[in-house]
Amino acid sequence: MADVRMTAENPQNPTHQEIRRLDYRPPDWLVPEVELDFDLDPESTTVRARLHVRRNGDHDRPLRLDGDGLTPVTVKVDGMDAQWQLDGAALVVVVPAGEAVVETEVRIDPAANTQLMGLYASGGMLCTQCEAEGFRRITFFPDRPDVLSKYRVRMAADRQRFPVLLTNGNPLRSGEAEGGRHWAEWEDPFLKPCYLFALVAGDLKANSDSFTTMSGRKVALNIWVREADLPRTAHAMAALKASMRWDEEVYGREYDLDLFNIVAVSDFNMGAMENKGLNIFNTAYILADPDTATDADFDNIARVVAHEYFHNWSGNRVTCRDWFQLSLKEGFTVFRDQGFSADMGSAAVQRIDDVKVLRAAQFPEDQGPLAHPVRPDGYLEISNFYTATIYNKGAELIRMLRTVLGADKFRAGTDLYFERHDGEVATCDDFVRALEDASGVDLSAFKIWYGQAGTPLVGARLDHDLASGRATLHLTQTVKPTPGQPVKAPMPIPLRTALIGADSGAQIGEEQLIIFDRPEQSIAFDDVRERPLLSINRGFSAPVVMAVDRDGDALERLAQSDTDPFARYEAMQELMLQLLIAGSRGEPTDSAPLIRAMAETLKSNSLDPALKADAIMLPTEAVIGDRMEQVDPDAIHAARESLRADLAIALRTDLLALHAASAPGGSDLSPEAKGARKLRNGALSYLAAADSADGARRAKQQFDSADNMTARQGALAVLVSLDSEEREQALGSFYTRFEAEPLVIDKWFALQAMAQRPETLDDVERLARHPAFTIANPNRLRALVGTFSANQWAFHAAGGRGYRFLADMILAVDKLNPQMAARFIPQLGRWRRFDEQRQALMRAQLERIVGTPGLSKDAFEQASKSLG
Ligand code: TRP
Ligand code: ZN
Repeated sequence: MADVRMTAENPQNPTHQEIRRLDYRPPDWLVPEVELDFDLDPESTTVRARLHVRRNGDHDRPLRLDGDGLTPVTVKVDGMDAQWQLDGAALVVVVPAGEAVVETEVRIDPAANTQLMGLYASGGMLCTQCEAEGFRRITFFPDRPDVLSKYRVRMAADRQRFPVLLTNGNPLRSGEAEGGRHWAEWEDPFLKPCYLFALVAGDLKANSDSFTTMSGRKVALNIWVREADLPRTAHAMAALKASMRWDEEVYGREYDLDLFNIVAVSDFNMGAMENKGLNIFNTAYILADPDTATDADFDNIARVVAHEYFHNWSGNRVTCRDWFQLSLKEGFTVFRDQGFSADMGSAAVQRIDDVKVLRAAQFPEDQGPLAHPVRPDGYLEISNFYTATIYNKGAELIRMLRTVLGADKFRAGTDLYFERHDGEVATCDDFVRALEDASGVDLSAFKIWYGQAGTPLVGARLDHDLASGRATLHLTQTVKPTPGQPVKAPMPIPLRTALIGADSGAQIGEEQLIIFDRPEQSIAFDDVRERPLLSINRGFSAPVVMAVDRDGDALERLAQSDTDPFARYEAMQELMLQLLIAGSRGEPTDSAPLIRAMAETLKSNSLDPALKADAIMLPTEAVIGDRMEQVDPDAIHAARESLRADLAIALRTDLLALHAASAPGGSDLSPEAKGARKLRNGALSYLAAADSADGARRAKQQFDSADNMTARQGALAVLVSLDSEEREQALGSFYTRFEAEPLVIDKWFALQAMAQRPETLDDVERLARHPAFTIANPNRLRALVGTFSANQWAFHAAGGRGYRFLADMILAVDKLNPQMAARFIPQLGRWRRFDEQRQALMRAQLERIVGTPGLSKDAFEQASKSLG
């Protein structure tokens, strides 16, 4: 019956078609129930699907099921051979009635799946990744988030190779089958979109525990890993239980199944995935012990475990109507995980970290050719939109809404949002509407943050008249054009603002929340009886770049006495940036105010060590470049190194004392111990800047005596940039000792790619040929190639060899894993920020990428948009 087949693989077929937000239409067909049957085998897995389909609305369109690389073995409608055809990769089935059972059978090859999307093999197990559009690589299905279904799944596999079989929801039955196989049947009672489907089969062992929810239900918790990794799962388990409690206490959200499974896999495109009841994680975000993981790794594990767990409500119970609403779940969930991390440790340190990430990853995005709004208007490939803008700027947007509403109204709003949309799909507009309805506050002006791309630049100047006691704040805002948005409207910018007495160092009056929503505005403060200093955008209340008219003395004062800890950090950063930018331009500078502020900070008893460590760290070369008209990588590097040396010489006594202070034991993971290690590493790095031979000796000594990875890696991070015998010895012994630990060997690659020395590119090219290097493993690839491309001085070394290396890698990876290849393109897309010569060299590589036959849609979109 079924023979209108067309060739699925037509290279002439333009699949590079833009999907547009405003084209959204509800699905033609719904699938209230699905039954899946997996006959698992690494080389040839058979997937049988029974879809209970129902026509949605009054139309006569056929049932269209997405597919990607699938060929149907059979297609039946209500048990009969159906009339069907392939349209590109999709299966089009004629369904005469309003309801039917549609059955398909396909065969897939997980072992050959190098994209790591769909069902694939990793380290001897089989696992899935379906978000965003991986489910269509497993079976034919309407692969869109607004089709919600109830799933029943049967899996069968070889018992010896795959003793553990997992999928979403709860197990129902299991048993033995012929030929050494076994099977299990599971059911997920909750409606879900197919992107939340997951399946795992493998030889895994669980760290098992339980959690009693606020209503007294006992939930079984399992973290599944290779047996040898079991001792390294305790931290993730503790983080999971803390997350479950936190979501109950802070958002009133209770877990809803009797079982929560986490599986760690070593080949994974991203950090982790929130599949209903079966989260799948990159091993990097589960496995840790003090000997192999740094304090930062521990913190990241807690953050990602919390993030995925929180998705159970913000993402799963309430999901996105379409992928343009991605920030509805991702921005909100990042905001939630930031709140969790703030509550688990120091809120000030957490806020500084959030802002560092935003500045390092999102600000460049917003300034470049790939700038897009938090709710984009179009895409070729949705995988390219899992960006810092959707995630981190999206989180800032939610934070602004909370700042405007206050904690209680915000909570009332999220309660209403969850209640109103539970079990359904929603949009960003729905989220804002729930906040408005619960609070009675009109938030319509804030919606522009969803639609308008670009980072606002806010100018601020404070006048003061001592006689009248009046201070006047003059504000201006501009947003530069971004692709597709040549003209920008003013945005409502919530600025937490206070005045600090220049002499007294005390806060003058109450902090104010200014909603600055015009191109220009002046705000008066009365009763200001001493010269005031401006403390603005406190706590980083808005994701903007501030240009505040303040001299070195004012910043020094604020760095010492601002009553907001973030603002103190910010004053110090500003002080550093002013010196670094002037230094890069070859202008004379005076580092005395900074030296005084740093000395004061190091001595302070009121600051915790982690905050001190953040405060004394110079901004990265990339962040300095971001603030300049044109990035001059060599000048920035020279200016930064020279300031580092000046500071280290001036503060040598304090730094020596800090580094000599007794180090806390490696297994002490208290905030105090972590802060002390961070500060010690910071001190060591400065000491090496003042005297490299002495620095190498001290670093090697720290390396050799370290009983934990934080101290060991901190020492090695210093050594890699020093030409010394100690460097080679430490790198050698590190490799030998941790050869069998992939996550530690990732560090070994990353540290060398991070090195600040002229040989780095040679090293990186050599490391790309190292037997332990592979482009097939995303963690290893990110460690070497991702780290190198973020090393501004090395990557942008004159001549463009770094660009060619990156393009070579992108093209090689694109053949295996387009999603990963595309992720490295934005570094080349920054070309407009550099001098003419570098521009030409970077563009040449982008053109080479775009011109490569057979290029993926992922890489094509990023490279062609980057050429602008
Ligand atoms: N939703 C995941 C998160 O928690 C993101 C994710 C994991 C993902 N793996 C992916 C997105 C693969 C695209 C492709 O943020
Ligand atoms: Zn997420």
